[in-house]
Amino acid sequence: MQEKKIELYFTSAYLSELDNRDQELIANAKEAFITAYAPYSGFLVGASILLENGEIINGSNQENVAYPSGLCAERVAMFYVGAKFPDVKIKTIAISVFSKSFEVTDVVSPCGACRQVMAEYEDKQEQSIKVILHSPTDQVLIANKVQDLLPFMFKSPHLKKH
Ligand code: THU
Repeated sequence: MQEKKIELYFTSAYLSELDNRDQELIANAKEAFITAYAPYSGFLVGASILLENGEIINGSNQENVAYPSGLCAERVAMFYVGAKFPDVKIKTIAISVFSKSFEVTDVVSPCGACRQVMAEYEDKQEQSIKVILHSPTDQVLIANKVQDLLPFMFKSPHLKKH
């Protein structure tokens, strides 16, 4: 038996400490959550993706009365990029949240399914995607790669016999 250790790196900051480009992307994510369709949870999530060509793509969570049919903001934005800009690399995703029923005081981390989707696009493009999480109190948590949010991810080689 052997115990192993992994190290994950995060930066904790306040919105005003970020450079203009990242602050602008967060402003986009805040605009995006206004478009959320979240009548069941009242929890609004906005995701804004900066592409290498300078394009910015926004997504928001879209719920459905058949609950599992809804989709998180991150995957709405990621799949749109995958469909519309399949060969353009993703540089950064900013995620901002707001609740209609309580005060959110800390950043919210993407769900496991969204991490898996972001991690696969990161793998596919062979370039790290920076993830910026933003709270309504302007707290920010930054991971320089999705991999740091999802160690031991399920990868396509796992589908093959070795
Ligand atoms: N949600 C997201 O959009 N992203 C996440 O990473 C976590 C959860 C949405 C899904 C649902 O519409 C609402 O937040 C409550 O779970």
